[in-house]
Amino acid sequence: MRKKLICGNWKMHTTIEEAMALTKSLLEGKSDAMTSEMAICVPFVSLHAVKSLLLNGEIALGAQNVHFEEKGAFTGEISPVMLESLGCKYVICGHSERREIFGETDAIVNRKVQAILAHHMTPILCVGEDLAQREAGKAVAVVEEQLKLDLQNISKEDLAASVIAYEPIWAIGTGKTATSEEAQEMCKSIREYIAKLYDQETADAVRILYGGSVKAANAKEILSQGDIDGALVGGASLSAADFLPIAEA
Ligand code: PGA
Repeated sequence: MRKKLICGNWKMHTTIEEAMALTKSLLEGKSDAMTSEMAICVPFVSLHAVKSLLLNGEIALGAQNVHFEEKGAFTGEISPVMLESLGCKYVICGHSERREIFGETDAIVNRKVQAILAHHMTPILCVGEDLAQREAGKAVAVVEEQLKLDLQNISKEDLAASVIAYEPIWAIGTGKTATSEEAQEMCKSIREYIAKLYDQETADAVRILYGGSVKAANAKEILSQGDIDGALVGGASLSAADFLPIAEA
């Protein structure tokens, strides 16, 4: 049984003070009855402060990016060793904003996935097509190509414990959500492809999230789909009033 994961991606938002205030309101508002796992991927500069509030592990801590080397002359970069020592459980990689704005290739994403796993953290590997690719009927092929390249040299045990997030680029931050059928269809096809690349056991174990304009109003329907194991939430994770109802959906 795959445990649902509701993960906030705060992107480049919040000062340290704001990050701490938001974390406190999530902790205060979170119901004990919640059956899904909750995680927040906060800006690097707030990881330490937020971690100090999450000591009982009710909410897991995540980072939004990582460099693939452990240390060295990489001015401005953050290494997996640093994130592990901060107590990060999750690290987002392959997000479309990193691919599109910062030119991250699948080869780079693959090295990041390997680095995250080598340091005992869980990658949240994002894949997804843009609007032109979807309209050209190439969405599945695009996503499969990303998975094939991003998962090179990843063992089946490691993949089974990892998280994949299907995030159609046309639905990110646009208010335009994929319908629950579209999201389910792609998450199912990702699972089938993992079964082909690995085996059915691995495909049944890996958690596949949907991301792209998830909000309280559409979360229940999206999360009730058989192959969708949670959500990666951007905009709506920046307020407890918006995020908690998604986690409870
Ligand atoms: P959004 O972002 O929920 O604001 O669309 C999702 C994401 O980029 O992970």
